[in-house]
Amino acid sequence: MEPARDRELDRQATTELALPPASLPRRMLAGFLDALVLATALTGFGATAGATNAPDAIDRASARPDFIVETGVAAGLSTSFFGAALIDNQHGTLYSIELPPTDTGPSTLADGSRYAWHEHGVGWAIPKSIRTGLVNRHHLVLQNVRQALPELLRQIPHVDIFFHDDLHTPDHMLWEYQLIWPHIRSGGTLISDDANFGWIQFCKQLGQGERAYENISRLAAIRKP
Ligand SMILES: C[S@@+](CC[C@H](N)C(=O)[O-])C[C@H]1O[C@@H](n2cnc3c(N)ncnc32)[C@H](O)[C@@H]1O
Repeated sequence: MEPARDRELDRQATTELALPPASLPRRMLAGFLDALVLATALTGFGATAGATNAPDAIDRASARPDFIVETGVAAGLSTSFFGAALIDNQHGTLYSIELPPTDTGPSTLADGSRYAWHEHGVGWAIPKSIRTGLVNRHHLVLQNVRQALPELLRQIPHVDIFFHDDLHTPDHMLWEYQLIWPHIRSGGTLISDDANFGWIQFCKQLGQGERAYENISRLAAIRKP
């Protein structure tokens, strides 16, 4: 997508999602809230966590998932929370998709982001206890999600929780939501970080009302009926 069009779509989404443009403190808060929501998502406390759609969507139906798929690993914050929950559950498998380090390096991605994780290794922040605790229940796929996700979806029977956090361009996100939705089981949850114009388009296509736009610093979720 052209950067100018991307910026315009994001400006519209910022209005529709009723969010002020991100500032540094807001971004830091967003990171904390992301972690909190992910932590509560799988432990069953989510339904009481507040006024947003996200914790409602991530209710107990998703609390004992068989299959979690996440896109975008970087240092491994989300991987750590999902992993910790699966260890607690003593059940479930996590699939994490990330670009090969050679494809990121110091370059800027199409959404304007730059990552330094390749200097330390993908998922470098995942605690050792989680790495070892998951034993063989974590599969890291180092391949562009455009190839990796369709391939993975041919291998697993369904998805209980899908977490989008890879490339945050509206077109790409819409592609990913549309691809994953038929594979999410009834009662399962689609979670997206950096919800933007792509999220709004997807919710409209699903016939979801504005409640689906509710978000915590652009972390949004929908549960499949
Ligand atoms: C926001 S970071 C992920 C943060 C991570 N979920 C966490 O909680 O620490 C986004 C990641 O998506 C990866 N990414 C971007 N485009 C991708 C693509 N096409 N396929 C796979 N991964 C991609 C980037 O390399 C980057 O590491």
